Amino acid sequence: MEFKNKFYLRLTDRTTAILLAYFGAIVLLAWVLWPEYRQPSPPKKYLADFSVSSGAISPLPDTIPDLDSRKITLGKMLFHEPRLSHDNTIACSSCHQLEHGGVDGTKLSGGIKGQLAQINTPTVYNSVFNFRQFWNGRAATLQEQVAGPIHNPVEMGSNWNEVIAKLKHDPAYVTIFNKIYSSGITPENIADSIATFVSSLITPNSRFDKFLKGDAHAITPYELSGYVNFKNYGCISCHQGINIGGNLYEKLGVMRDYFKDRGNVTDADLGHYSITGNPEDLHKFKVPSLRNIALTAPYLHDGTARNLEQVVLIMGKYQLGIAIPAEDVAKIVAFLRTLTGEYDGRPL
Ligand code: HEC
Ligand code: HEC
Repeated sequence: MEFKNKFYLRLTDRTTAILLAYFGAIVLLAWVLWPEYRQPSPPKKYLADFSVSSGAISPLPDTIPDLDSRKITLGKMLFHEPRLSHDNTIACSSCHQLEHGGVDGTKLSGGIKGQLAQINTPTVYNSVFNFRQFWNGRAATLQEQVAGPIHNPVEMGSNWNEVIAKLKHDPAYVTIFNKIYSSGITPENIADSIATFVSSLITPNSRFDKFLKGDAHAITPYELSGYVNFKNYGCISCHQGINIGGNLYEKLGVMRDYFKDRGNVTDADLGHYSITGNPEDLHKFKVPSLRNIALTAPYLHDGTARNLEQVVLIMGKYQLGIAIPAEDVAKIVAFLRTLTGEYDGRPL
Protein backbone atom coordinates (compact mmCIF):
# COMPACT_ATOMS: atom_id res chain seq x y z
CA MET A 1 0.00 0.00 0.00
CA GLU A 2 2.79 2.34 0.98
CA PHE A 3 4.69 1.52 -2.20
CA LYS A 4 1.62 2.08 -4.33
CA ASN A 5 1.03 5.54 -2.77
CA LYS A 6 4.59 6.61 -3.40
CA PHE A 7 4.36 5.50 -6.99
CA TYR A 8 1.08 7.39 -7.44
CA LEU A 9 2.62 10.56 -6.01
CA ARG A 10 5.62 10.30 -8.27
CA LEU A 11 3.36 9.84 -11.26
CA THR A 12 1.27 12.97 -10.51
CA ASP A 13 4.44 14.99 -9.88
CA ARG A 14 5.73 14.06 -13.26
CA THR A 15 2.43 14.65 -15.05
CA THR A 16 2.08 18.05 -13.43
CA ALA A 17 5.62 18.99 -14.37
CA ILE A 18 5.10 17.93 -17.98
CA LEU A 19 1.80 19.76 -18.21
CA LEU A 20 3.31 22.88 -16.71
CA ALA A 21 6.26 22.79 -19.09
CA TYR A 22 3.89 22.27 -22.00
CA PHE A 23 1.66 25.22 -21.18
CA GLY A 24 4.67 27.33 -20.29
CA ALA A 25 6.10 26.70 -23.76
CA ILE A 26 2.84 27.72 -25.44
CA VAL A 27 2.60 30.95 -23.45
CA LEU A 28 6.27 31.76 -24.13
CA LEU A 29 5.82 31.10 -27.84
CA ALA A 30 2.74 33.30 -28.00
CA TRP A 31 4.59 36.04 -26.12
CA VAL A 32 7.50 35.94 -28.56
CA LEU A 33 5.49 35.62 -31.77
CA TRP A 34 2.65 37.95 -30.98
CA PRO A 35 3.82 41.24 -29.47
CA GLU A 36 0.28 42.46 -28.96
CA TYR A 37 -0.21 39.61 -26.56
CA ARG A 38 2.39 41.18 -24.28
CA GLN A 39 0.36 44.34 -23.90
CA PRO A 40 -2.36 44.22 -21.34
CA SER A 41 -5.44 46.09 -22.53
CA PRO A 42 -5.12 49.71 -21.53
CA PRO A 43 -6.57 50.22 -18.11
CA LYS A 44 -10.25 51.16 -18.07
CA LYS A 45 -9.41 54.55 -16.60
CA TYR A 46 -7.75 55.58 -19.88
CA LEU A 47 -10.86 54.65 -21.80
CA ALA A 48 -12.96 56.75 -19.46
CA ASP A 49 -10.38 59.53 -19.58
CA PHE A 50 -10.43 59.27 -23.37
CA SER A 51 -14.10 60.07 -23.68
CA VAL A 52 -13.57 63.19 -21.62
CA SER A 53 -10.61 64.55 -23.57
CA SER A 54 -11.47 63.25 -27.04
CA GLY A 55 -11.83 66.87 -28.18
CA ALA A 56 -8.06 66.96 -28.57
CA ILE A 57 -8.23 65.07 -31.87
CA SER A 58 -11.37 65.18 -33.96
CA PRO A 59 -12.31 63.04 -36.97
CA LEU A 60 -12.26 64.37 -40.52
CA PRO A 61 -15.58 65.11 -42.21
CA ASP A 62 -16.61 62.88 -45.14
CA THR A 63 -16.79 65.80 -47.56
CA ILE A 64 -16.05 69.50 -47.77
CA PRO A 65 -19.35 71.23 -48.48
CA ASP A 66 -19.85 73.85 -51.20
CA LEU A 67 -16.88 73.06 -53.44
CA ASP A 68 -17.74 73.79 -57.09
CA SER A 69 -17.33 70.46 -58.91
CA ARG A 70 -16.43 72.24 -62.19
CA LYS A 71 -13.56 73.98 -60.45
CA ILE A 72 -12.44 70.67 -58.95
CA THR A 73 -12.31 69.12 -62.44
CA LEU A 74 -10.35 72.05 -63.89
CA GLY A 75 -8.08 72.22 -60.83
CA LYS A 76 -7.34 68.51 -61.17
CA MET A 77 -6.28 69.02 -64.83
CA LEU A 78 -4.03 71.91 -63.83
CA PHE A 79 -2.58 69.95 -60.87
CA HIS A 80 -1.37 67.35 -63.37
CA GLU A 81 -0.32 69.95 -66.00
CA PRO A 82 3.45 70.11 -66.72
CA ARG A 83 2.95 73.29 -68.79
CA LEU A 84 2.76 75.12 -65.46
CA SER A 85 6.55 74.67 -65.37
CA HIS A 86 9.08 76.59 -67.47
CA ASP A 87 10.26 73.63 -69.56
CA ASN A 88 6.97 71.67 -69.48
CA THR A 89 8.48 68.82 -67.44
CA ILE A 90 7.15 69.28 -63.90
CA ALA A 91 3.54 69.31 -62.67
CA CYS A 92 2.30 69.74 -59.10
CA SER A 93 1.68 65.99 -59.23
CA SER A 94 5.36 65.27 -59.96
CA CYS A 95 6.19 66.07 -56.34
CA HIS A 96 2.73 65.60 -54.79
CA GLN A 97 1.87 62.12 -56.10
CA LEU A 98 -1.71 61.42 -55.12
CA GLU A 99 -1.19 57.66 -55.30
CA HIS A 100 1.78 57.94 -52.89
CA GLY A 101 0.24 59.78 -49.97
CA GLY A 102 0.60 63.17 -51.72
CA VAL A 103 4.43 63.07 -51.70
CA ASP A 104 7.18 61.52 -53.86
CA GLY A 105 9.07 59.64 -51.14
CA THR A 106 12.32 61.57 -51.61
CA LYS A 107 14.31 63.55 -49.06
CA LEU A 108 14.20 66.58 -51.40
CA SER A 109 12.06 66.57 -54.55
CA GLY A 110 13.50 67.22 -57.99
CA GLY A 111 12.28 70.33 -59.86
CA ILE A 112 13.10 71.54 -63.38
CA LYS A 113 16.57 70.83 -64.81
CA GLY A 114 17.24 68.25 -62.13
CA GLN A 115 17.47 70.84 -59.35
CA LEU A 116 16.47 69.90 -55.82
CA ALA A 117 13.88 71.67 -53.65
CA GLN A 118 15.31 73.23 -50.48
CA ILE A 119 12.96 71.49 -48.08
CA ASN A 120 11.11 68.16 -47.79
CA THR A 121 7.78 67.97 -49.66
CA PRO A 122 4.77 67.85 -47.33
CA THR A 123 1.60 66.08 -48.42
CA VAL A 124 -1.21 67.96 -50.15
CA TYR A 125 -3.83 65.70 -48.55
CA ASN A 126 -5.85 67.48 -45.86
CA SER A 127 -3.81 70.68 -46.34
CA VAL A 128 -7.16 72.50 -46.37
CA PHE A 129 -7.24 71.92 -42.58
CA ASN A 130 -3.86 73.58 -41.94
CA PHE A 131 -4.02 77.06 -40.40
CA ARG A 132 -1.28 78.24 -42.80
CA GLN A 133 0.56 76.64 -45.72
CA PHE A 134 4.28 75.74 -46.03
CA TRP A 135 6.64 74.62 -43.28
CA ASN A 136 7.31 78.21 -42.24
CA GLY A 137 3.69 79.30 -42.73
CA ARG A 138 4.39 81.94 -45.37
CA ALA A 139 1.12 81.36 -47.30
CA ALA A 140 -2.13 82.15 -45.51
CA THR A 141 -4.38 80.23 -47.90
CA LEU A 142 -4.25 77.49 -50.52
CA GLN A 143 -4.98 80.15 -53.18
CA GLU A 144 -1.93 82.12 -52.08
CA GLN A 145 0.16 78.95 -51.95
CA VAL A 146 -0.20 78.10 -55.67
CA ALA A 147 2.03 80.96 -56.91
CA GLY A 148 4.90 79.61 -54.74
CA PRO A 149 5.96 76.49 -56.66
CA ILE A 150 5.18 78.03 -60.09
CA HIS A 151 7.66 80.85 -59.44
CA ASN A 152 10.21 78.90 -57.41
CA PRO A 153 13.29 78.68 -59.70
CA VAL A 154 14.21 75.17 -58.50
CA GLU A 155 10.64 73.81 -58.57
CA MET A 156 8.62 74.88 -61.66
CA GLY A 157 10.75 77.95 -62.55
CA SER A 158 7.99 79.76 -64.42
CA ASN A 159 5.79 82.85 -63.95
CA TRP A 160 2.18 83.85 -64.53
CA ASN A 161 2.75 85.49 -67.93
CA GLU A 162 4.45 82.38 -69.29
CA VAL A 163 1.82 80.02 -67.85
CA ILE A 164 -1.11 82.10 -69.10
CA ALA A 165 0.36 82.38 -72.61
CA LYS A 166 0.68 78.59 -72.78
CA LEU A 167 -2.81 77.88 -71.47
CA LYS A 168 -4.36 80.45 -73.84
CA HIS A 169 -2.83 78.50 -76.70
CA ASP A 170 -4.87 75.46 -75.73
CA PRO A 171 -8.50 75.79 -76.90
CA ALA A 172 -9.64 73.17 -74.38
CA TYR A 173 -8.45 75.31 -71.43
CA VAL A 174 -9.86 78.50 -72.96
CA THR A 175 -13.30 76.88 -73.23
CA ILE A 176 -13.32 75.42 -69.72
CA PHE A 177 -12.05 78.61 -68.04
CA ASN A 178 -14.61 80.72 -69.89
CA LYS A 179 -17.43 78.44 -68.77
CA ILE A 180 -16.49 78.80 -65.10
CA TYR A 181 -14.98 82.28 -64.84
CA SER A 182 -16.24 85.38 -66.69
CA SER A 183 -12.66 86.75 -66.65
CA GLY A 184 -11.26 83.60 -68.31
CA ILE A 185 -7.63 82.53 -67.80
CA THR A 186 -6.08 84.73 -65.10
CA PRO A 187 -3.61 84.05 -62.27
CA GLU A 188 -6.45 84.36 -59.72
CA ASN A 189 -8.63 81.86 -61.59
CA ILE A 190 -5.80 79.36 -62.02
CA ALA A 191 -5.04 79.62 -58.30
CA ASP A 192 -8.72 79.41 -57.41
CA SER A 193 -9.38 76.22 -59.37
CA ILE A 194 -6.19 74.50 -58.18
CA ALA A 195 -6.95 75.51 -54.58
CA THR A 196 -10.48 74.14 -54.95
CA PHE A 197 -9.12 70.82 -56.17
CA VAL A 198 -6.52 70.68 -53.37
CA SER A 199 -9.29 71.48 -50.85
CA SER A 200 -11.12 68.39 -52.05
CA LEU A 201 -8.14 66.15 -51.18
CA ILE A 202 -9.33 64.96 -47.81
CA THR A 203 -8.92 61.48 -46.34
CA PRO A 204 -11.71 60.51 -43.93
CA ASN A 205 -12.39 57.08 -42.41
CA SER A 206 -8.98 56.23 -41.01
CA ARG A 207 -9.28 53.45 -38.43
CA PHE A 208 -8.55 55.97 -35.71
CA ASP A 209 -11.33 58.26 -36.94
CA LYS A 210 -13.71 55.29 -36.90
CA PHE A 211 -12.62 54.68 -33.33
CA LEU A 212 -13.22 58.35 -32.45
CA LYS A 213 -16.68 58.06 -33.95
CA GLY A 214 -17.51 55.19 -31.60
CA ASP A 215 -16.34 51.93 -33.19
CA ALA A 216 -14.38 50.55 -30.23
CA HIS A 217 -12.98 47.69 -32.32
CA ALA A 218 -11.62 49.83 -35.16
CA ILE A 219 -8.19 49.79 -33.50
CA THR A 220 -6.51 47.06 -31.46
CA PRO A 221 -5.78 47.35 -27.72
CA TYR A 222 -2.09 47.58 -28.65
CA GLU A 223 -2.73 50.53 -31.01
CA LEU A 224 -4.90 52.13 -28.35
CA SER A 225 -2.06 51.81 -25.85
CA GLY A 226 0.06 53.69 -28.42
CA TYR A 227 -2.53 56.46 -28.43
CA VAL A 228 -2.44 56.52 -24.62
CA ASN A 229 1.35 56.94 -24.85
CA PHE A 230 0.91 59.65 -27.47
CA LYS A 231 -1.24 61.54 -25.00
CA ASN A 232 0.75 60.78 -21.86
CA TYR A 233 4.15 61.66 -23.31
CA GLY A 234 2.65 64.97 -24.49
CA CYS A 235 2.87 64.52 -28.27
CA ILE A 236 -0.74 65.65 -28.36
CA SER A 237 0.14 69.05 -26.94
CA CYS A 238 1.57 69.89 -30.37
CA HIS A 239 -0.04 67.35 -32.73
CA GLN A 240 -3.74 67.88 -32.13
CA GLY A 241 -7.02 69.09 -33.58
CA ILE A 242 -8.71 67.90 -36.73
CA ASN A 243 -5.43 67.45 -38.63
CA ILE A 244 -3.45 66.08 -35.66
CA GLY A 245 -1.13 69.02 -36.29
CA GLY A 246 -1.25 71.96 -38.68
CA ASN A 247 -2.68 74.45 -36.18
CA LEU A 248 0.34 76.02 -34.48
CA TYR A 249 4.05 76.82 -34.80
CA GLU A 250 6.59 75.09 -32.61
CA LYS A 251 10.34 75.14 -32.47
CA LEU A 252 12.20 72.04 -33.61
CA GLY A 253 14.49 71.56 -30.62
CA VAL A 254 12.46 72.72 -27.64
CA MET A 255 14.48 70.66 -25.16
CA ARG A 256 17.82 70.34 -26.95
CA ASP A 257 19.53 72.02 -29.91
CA TYR A 258 18.56 69.92 -32.93
CA PHE A 259 20.50 72.08 -35.40
CA LYS A 260 23.73 72.05 -33.41
CA ASP A 261 23.55 68.25 -33.30
CA ARG A 262 22.74 67.94 -37.01
CA GLY A 263 25.08 70.71 -38.26
CA ASN A 264 25.14 72.47 -41.65
CA VAL A 265 22.29 74.96 -41.01
CA THR A 266 20.63 76.33 -44.18
CA ASP A 267 18.03 79.04 -44.92
CA ALA A 268 15.37 76.33 -44.98
CA ASP A 269 16.10 75.67 -41.28
CA LEU A 270 15.26 79.23 -40.22
CA GLY A 271 11.54 78.43 -40.12
CA HIS A 272 8.99 81.08 -39.21
CA TYR A 273 11.86 83.50 -38.43
CA SER A 274 12.43 83.95 -42.17
CA ILE A 275 9.02 85.66 -42.34
CA THR A 276 8.88 87.63 -39.11
CA GLY A 277 12.55 88.33 -38.41
CA ASN A 278 11.68 87.82 -34.75
CA PRO A 279 14.46 85.83 -32.97
CA GLU A 280 11.77 83.98 -31.00
CA ASP A 281 10.58 82.43 -34.27
CA LEU A 282 13.96 80.95 -35.16
CA HIS A 283 13.58 77.23 -36.09
CA LYS A 284 9.84 77.35 -35.51
CA PHE A 285 7.80 75.34 -38.01
CA LYS A 286 4.15 74.65 -38.54
CA VAL A 287 3.60 71.45 -36.54
CA PRO A 288 2.97 68.93 -39.33
CA SER A 289 -0.24 66.95 -39.62
CA LEU A 290 0.17 63.29 -38.68
CA ARG A 291 -2.66 62.08 -40.91
CA ASN A 292 -1.49 59.38 -43.38
CA ILE A 293 1.93 59.75 -41.77
CA ALA A 294 2.79 56.07 -42.47
CA LEU A 295 2.81 56.92 -46.21
CA THR A 296 4.97 60.04 -46.24
CA ALA A 297 8.53 59.03 -45.28
CA PRO A 298 11.14 60.43 -45.12
CA TYR A 299 10.23 62.84 -42.32
CA LEU A 300 10.97 66.30 -40.93
CA HIS A 301 11.46 69.50 -42.91
CA ASP A 302 14.99 68.36 -43.76
CA GLY A 303 13.87 64.85 -44.73
CA THR A 304 16.54 63.29 -42.52
CA ALA A 305 14.37 60.85 -40.53
CA ARG A 306 13.97 57.72 -42.65
CA ASN A 307 11.18 55.98 -40.76
CA LEU A 308 8.59 56.46 -38.05
CA GLU A 309 10.63 54.78 -35.33
CA GLN A 310 13.46 57.24 -35.94
CA VAL A 311 11.23 60.32 -35.96
CA VAL A 312 9.41 59.28 -32.76
CA LEU A 313 12.79 58.95 -31.01
CA ILE A 314 13.82 62.39 -32.34
CA MET A 315 10.55 63.90 -31.07
CA GLY A 316 11.18 62.36 -27.64
CA LYS A 317 14.73 63.66 -27.50
CA TYR A 318 14.33 67.16 -28.95
CA GLN A 319 10.69 68.08 -28.26
CA LEU A 320 10.10 66.33 -24.95
CA GLY A 321 13.59 65.82 -23.51
CA ILE A 322 13.17 62.09 -22.89
CA ALA A 323 14.51 58.85 -24.29
CA ILE A 324 11.31 56.98 -25.13
CA PRO A 325 11.81 53.23 -24.45
CA ALA A 326 11.73 51.00 -27.56
CA GLU A 327 8.50 49.26 -26.58
CA ASP A 328 6.67 52.60 -26.25
CA VAL A 329 8.12 53.78 -29.56
CA ALA A 330 6.69 50.63 -31.18
CA LYS A 331 3.28 51.26 -29.64
CA ILE A 332 3.24 54.91 -30.76
CA VAL A 333 4.23 53.85 -34.28
CA ALA A 334 1.40 51.28 -34.29
CA PHE A 335 -0.98 54.10 -33.32
CA LEU A 336 0.41 56.38 -36.05
CA ARG A 337 -0.29 53.64 -38.60
CA THR A 338 -4.01 53.80 -37.74
CA LEU A 339 -4.12 57.37 -39.11
CA THR A 340 -4.20 56.36 -42.79
CA GLY A 341 -7.52 57.32 -44.34
CA GLU A 342 -9.42 56.96 -47.60
CA TYR A 343 -9.45 59.21 -50.65
CA ASP A 344 -12.43 59.03 -52.96
CA GLY A 345 -13.74 55.98 -51.10
CA ARG A 346 -10.54 53.95 -51.46
CA PRO A 347 -7.81 53.32 -48.84
CA LEU A 348 -4.91 55.67 -49.50
C1 HEC B 1 9.43 70.38 -57.18
C2 HEC B 1 8.46 69.79 -56.29
C3 HEC B 1 7.14 70.50 -56.08
C4 HEC B 1 6.24 70.92 -57.02
C5 HEC B 1 6.37 70.84 -58.53
C6 HEC B 1 5.11 71.45 -56.28
N1 HEC B 1 5.34 71.35 -54.94
FE1 HEC B 1 4.02 71.81 -53.50
N2 HEC B 1 5.48 71.63 -52.13
C7 HEC B 1 6.76 71.23 -52.39
C8 HEC B 1 7.61 71.55 -51.28
C9 HEC B 1 9.10 71.27 -51.17
C10 HEC B 1 6.78 72.17 -50.33
C11 HEC B 1 7.21 72.76 -49.00
C12 HEC B 1 7.76 74.14 -49.29
C13 HEC B 1 7.96 74.95 -48.05
O1 HEC B 1 7.34 74.69 -47.04
O2 HEC B 1 8.75 75.90 -48.10
C14 HEC B 1 5.44 72.18 -50.89
C15 HEC B 1 4.31 72.64 -50.22
C16 HEC B 1 3.04 72.60 -50.75
C17 HEC B 1 1.82 72.84 -50.02
C18 HEC B 1 1.71 73.20 -48.54
C19 HEC B 1 1.46 71.98 -47.69
C20 HEC B 1 1.68 72.26 -46.22
O3 HEC B 1 1.32 71.42 -45.40
O4 HEC B 1 2.26 73.30 -45.87
C21 HEC B 1 0.78 72.71 -50.89
C22 HEC B 1 -0.70 72.86 -50.60
C23 HEC B 1 1.36 72.41 -52.19
N3 HEC B 1 2.73 72.33 -52.05
C24 HEC B 1 0.65 72.31 -53.38
C25 HEC B 1 1.29 72.38 -54.61
C26 HEC B 1 0.63 72.74 -55.85
C27 HEC B 1 -0.83 73.08 -55.99
C28 HEC B 1 1.58 72.67 -56.83
C29 HEC B 1 1.44 73.01 -58.30
C30 HEC B 1 1.02 74.38 -58.60
C31 HEC B 1 2.82 72.26 -56.19
N4 HEC B 1 2.61 72.14 -54.85
C32 HEC B 1 4.00 72.01 -56.87
C33 HEC B 1 7.19 70.61 -53.56
C34 HEC B 1 6.58 70.80 -54.78
C1 HEC C 1 6.75 70.85 -28.81
C2 HEC C 1 5.91 70.41 -29.90
C3 HEC C 1 6.00 68.96 -30.34
C4 HEC C 1 5.91 67.83 -29.57
C5 HEC C 1 5.73 67.73 -28.08
C6 HEC C 1 5.98 66.71 -30.49
N1 HEC C 1 6.12 67.16 -31.77
FE1 HEC C 1 6.25 66.02 -33.43
N2 HEC C 1 6.72 67.64 -34.51
C7 HEC C 1 6.75 68.95 -34.04
C8 HEC C 1 7.29 69.80 -35.06
C9 HEC C 1 7.49 71.32 -34.96
C10 HEC C 1 7.62 68.98 -36.15
C11 HEC C 1 8.27 69.43 -37.46
C12 HEC C 1 9.74 69.53 -37.20
C13 HEC C 1 10.53 69.81 -38.46
O1 HEC C 1 10.57 68.99 -39.35
O2 HEC C 1 11.10 70.88 -38.53
C14 HEC C 1 7.22 67.62 -35.77
C15 HEC C 1 7.35 66.52 -36.59
C16 HEC C 1 6.83 65.26 -36.29
C17 HEC C 1 6.75 64.15 -37.21
C18 HEC C 1 7.20 64.18 -38.65
C19 HEC C 1 6.10 64.72 -39.54
C20 HEC C 1 6.51 64.87 -40.96
O3 HEC C 1 5.60 64.97 -41.80
O4 HEC C 1 7.69 64.90 -41.28
C21 HEC C 1 6.19 63.10 -36.51
C22 HEC C 1 5.89 61.72 -37.06
C23 HEC C 1 5.96 63.55 -35.17
N3 HEC C 1 6.35 64.87 -35.07
C24 HEC C 1 5.44 62.78 -34.14
C25 HEC C 1 5.50 63.15 -32.81
C26 HEC C 1 5.34 62.24 -31.70
C27 HEC C 1 5.01 60.77 -31.82
C28 HEC C 1 5.52 62.96 -30.56
C29 HEC C 1 5.54 62.47 -29.14
C30 HEC C 1 6.53 61.46 -28.83
C31 HEC C 1 5.75 64.33 -30.97
N4 HEC C 1 5.76 64.40 -32.33
C32 HEC C 1 5.93 65.40 -30.09
C33 HEC C 1 6.32 69.37 -32.81
C34 HEC C 1 6.15 68.52 -31.72
